[in-house]
Amino acid sequence: MLHRRRPGATADPAATIYPGPVTVPPVDVPLHPALRDLAFLLGRWEGEGEGGYPTVQPFRYREELCFGHDGRPFLHYRQRSWSAEDGRPMHVEAGYLRPGQPGAVELVVAHPSGVVELSEGRRTGTELELRSRAVACASTAKDVSAIARRLSVEGDRLRTTLDMAAVGLPDTPHLRSTLHRAAPAPA
Ligand code: HEM
Repeated sequence: MLHRRRPGATADPAATIYPGPVTVPPVDVPLHPALRDLAFLLGRWEGEGEGGYPTVQPFRYREELCFGHDGRPFLHYRQRSWSAEDGRPMHVEAGYLRPGQPGAVELVVAHPSGVVELSEGRRTGTELELRSRAVACASTAKDVSAIARRLSVEGDRLRTTLDMAAVGLPDTPHLRSTLHRAAPAPA
């Protein structure tokens, strides 16, 4: 299907490849009190990253992360990325970040590569450290057995890292990115 660019829209290939909202539709509801400690993530973040793995060529990517809320006690989470070299779409993922017991966080994420991730971890200040409790791989998916993520916010800068145990290898770095706040959280 061909998506025509709106007059005045940017030439960003993402705008034509992924039409539609990238954040939760803004809703006029107050943040659930259980999310107060995670509110520093809310909004849209943009930046660049680099990736690799012993089995793949190193690569560079552009990335967007969106965290939204709709008044209920979880954050909506969406990620998408493009090659920094030629703009072609790379990884995307979507899910929910849930506050657990005080200081604890839970993340459920679906990956179009056929992987479903359930991670848990802790928040310390404005840093989240998460590790998968379960990873399920579809029959045709590459084998991923563990995922470890770190997200750390300092002012308007968000740094992420992702290590994984996959294709028979133990925990090994796959991604690191540095993003900047591109849009504030919905009021
Ligand atoms: C910014 C996000 C990501 C980008 C840009 C990215 C990019 C890539 C690239 C370019 C490759 C090598 C070519 C290919 O097999 O497609 C790759 C391989 C792979 N990625 Fe990612 N990836 C991302 C996120 C993830 C995540 C979240 C997972 C885990 C669920 C993951 C798991 C894998 C696996 C298992 C491989 C195959 C390794 C192999 O075949 O030896 N990736 N990724």
